[in-house]
Amino acid sequence: MDRQTLYREELLEHYRNPLNFGELSDYTVSAKQTNPFCGDDVEMFIKLNEDKVEDIRFTGQGCAISMAGASILTERVKGKVKSQLTKFSENDMLNLLGIEVSETRKKCALLALSVLKDCIYGVKSKS
Ligand code: FES
Repeated sequence: MDRQTLYREELLEHYRNPLNFGELSDYTVSAKQTNPFCGDDVEMFIKLNEDKVEDIRFTGQGCAISMAGASILTERVKGKVKSQLTKFSENDMLNLLGIEVSETRKKCALLALSVLKDCIYGVKSKS
């Protein structure tokens, strides 16, 4: 099995059994975005302890790439501090997915990262 096939299998596994799926009642920040091309959405909830991501969950519905991306990303950022997350780039996200993503699927692949950035830059804080 080549690397691309392995990554693809892993993505499908994340899609079928996403990690960190669900809402977080005691979150500090949250954000939601919809992919304008297909209407799929991701909402993210982050519990911060000072600047550190203590817990993170997401909900939403979408294609395999967007859902698997949210699953993988939320797992990766647990325990990280805000300054590390602001440096996390679109290329880092694409590398995390590990598969070739066509131009048309980039919005899917980057949807979760975009929502994460909204959370980090504090679009909506829980009052
Ligand atoms: Fe909707 Fe991928 S087709 S997020």
